[in-house]
Amino acid sequence: MIYIANWKMHGNPRDIASLNPVIKLTKQKKYRNLKIVYCPPYTLLDLMKNKIKNSKLKLGAQNCHTNSDYGAFTGSINSKMLKFIGAKFVIVGHSENRNFGDSDFSINKKIKSALKENLKVILCIGETLNERRKKITKKVLKKQIENGLSKIKEFNNILFAYEPRWSIGTGLIPKEKDLAKNIKDIKKILISSNKKLKNAKILYGGSVNPINVKEIMKIKDIKGLLIGGASLNSKKFIDIIKKSIN
Ligand code: PGA
Repeated sequence: MIYIANWKMHGNPRDIASLNPVIKLTKQKKYRNLKIVYCPPYTLLDLMKNKIKNSKLKLGAQNCHTNSDYGAFTGSINSKMLKFIGAKFVIVGHSENRNFGDSDFSINKKIKSALKENLKVILCIGETLNERRKKITKKVLKKQIENGLSKIKEFNNILFAYEPRWSIGTGLIPKEKDLAKNIKDIKKILISSNKKLKNAKILYGGSVNPINVKEIMKIKDIKGLLIGGASLNSKKFIDIIKKSIN
């Protein structure tokens, strides 16, 4: 299992101390092999890198620019800079960024630039409420996957996070049978787009909490969780981790 803690636009230097119990957890035999990736805002990457340097935790960023070269892009950060600061992962195509102009085309460029720097990509895909109502979820997922992966030939460093956009931050999660179907569809789309994606890792994200995690984990093909709000509270985060494997 892999757990991605997405802090979004939260956190100050003093909040780094909240990682202590999580670091402690990963020292226990039972939890030693879990992969836990913290994705703080850019401003905390360096501090967090120092905090986790002797632990099993890994560092990730929440986004990157389409361009992997340096350039005149005020306010932006590229994959080269992320690698330099010690990030090993980057979230690409998060729905909160799709809402603000990220397209499948720009997402494809971001993935390519991240792979060029040997970062692992967490590609977020998912339908809006409207698309779900129109019953075009599968079509939307297919378009996001195929266009997002356009002209990419190696997939070892790409993880897929299924995040229904209506589920993020709302407290709502899909019904078990819908979630099972969508994960199955994603698997099929991945395999039909490239055989190398047969064993691609699929994560779930959207309102994961200690109460609903067991229900989500009933879907056997879910190999990880992308956790937003609940990852800010280490007690809740640890609770999710424990409940997801017990
Ligand atoms: P949430 O966010 O857990 O707060 O719904 C999930 C995400 O970051 O995608």
